[in-house]
Amino acid sequence: MVGKIIGTGSYIPEKYLDNNDLAQIIETSDKWIRERTGIIRRHVVETETTVSMAAAAADNALQNSGIHADEVELILLCTVSSDVILPSAACEVQQRIGAVNATAFDLNAACAGFVFAYVMAQGYIAAKIYRTILIIGSESLSKLVDWKDRGTCILFGDGAGAAVIRAAAGQRYLPVTGSDGESGLSLTLKSRFWQEDAAARSYIGMDGQAIFKFAVKKVPQAIRGVLKKNRINPRTIDWFILHQANQRIIDAVIKRLGISEDKFPSNVAEYGNTSSASIPILLDEMVQKGLLEKGQKIVLAGFGAGLSWGAVVLKW
Ligand code: ACO
Repeated sequence: MVGKIIGTGSYIPEKYLDNNDLAQIIETSDKWIRERTGIIRRHVVETETTVSMAAAAADNALQNSGIHADEVELILLCTVSSDVILPSAACEVQQRIGAVNATAFDLNAACAGFVFAYVMAQGYIAAKIYRTILIIGSESLSKLVDWKDRGTCILFGDGAGAAVIRAAAGQRYLPVTGSDGESGLSLTLKSRFWQEDAAARSYIGMDGQAIFKFAVKKVPQAIRGVLKKNRINPRTIDWFILHQANQRIIDAVIKRLGISEDKFPSNVAEYGNTSSASIPILLDEMVQKGLLEKGQKIVLAGFGAGLSWGAVVLKW
């Protein structure tokens, strides 16, 4: 038994800020941001929340998979920007979408979240614990960046993506995952609710160059590793869907792997870095565009705070 993705969905807030909008509030320019990151705009929440976007993406994924909410047995919601701690965002989503038979919990693995959730879903299905699982990545990062810090606020955006995974006959592939807590301080966010003084609130803090070096080294290693582990020739992979952190990271990974850039779709220009939501948003976009064909082999690779990383192979 393997878990097959039978439907995807996404939600993107309507409001966006382009690079010129940011140049009105911080000392930066469209040219600087485009050259260093490839980002042109990022969508940001207005009335939406992490939970409402997750529920909208989940509804969308259920509709596209043709199943009813009460068939879902597990909801895994990846987020680092939940508007609720208790109950979990996953439980709130369960209530909103009417997935009355589901067990639900949150998972924090930052930008590697969706890949980790995919791996967990495969494990539950292989162990025959659940057959139908909804995995979601949803983030309101615009609420967590310091809009005075030009080194970070230009990078992030908001949105949600979801996938329904269902047990089916087929080949199981082994994943590659890892974490390095020793290097964790290069990307941080302290829990805000411990701060009595609003002025002492913490925001996303980042050593950009350390993250860049980590990503361009670890992601090709994880991709090569997962292909080797499953004895797959890289040339037979149709798509490499990477976490959309920034275009320079994606380009550096492509160069290191020596694989055609046509196989690396990207939407970071439009959405910025949406952390755990970036892979399912891109996946859903590709489905909507009709780019994914039955039988194609796809690699998903997530990487980010923790530091954590993971790569998986799946057959569409
Ligand atoms: N506009 C204009 N100038 C800026 C901006 C900005 N938005 N931000 C920083 N600068 C300035 C700095 O102040 C610095 O000026 P100085 O030389 O006078 O001190 C100069 O630009 C260079 O700053 P660096 O931080 O060295 O710039 P760098 O070339 O490293 O680019 C960037 C910064 C884009 C963040 C890069 O390090 C990067 O892409 N890192 C990866 C980070 C990432 O993707 N994080 C996402 C979260 S984690 C994840 O998803 C994997």
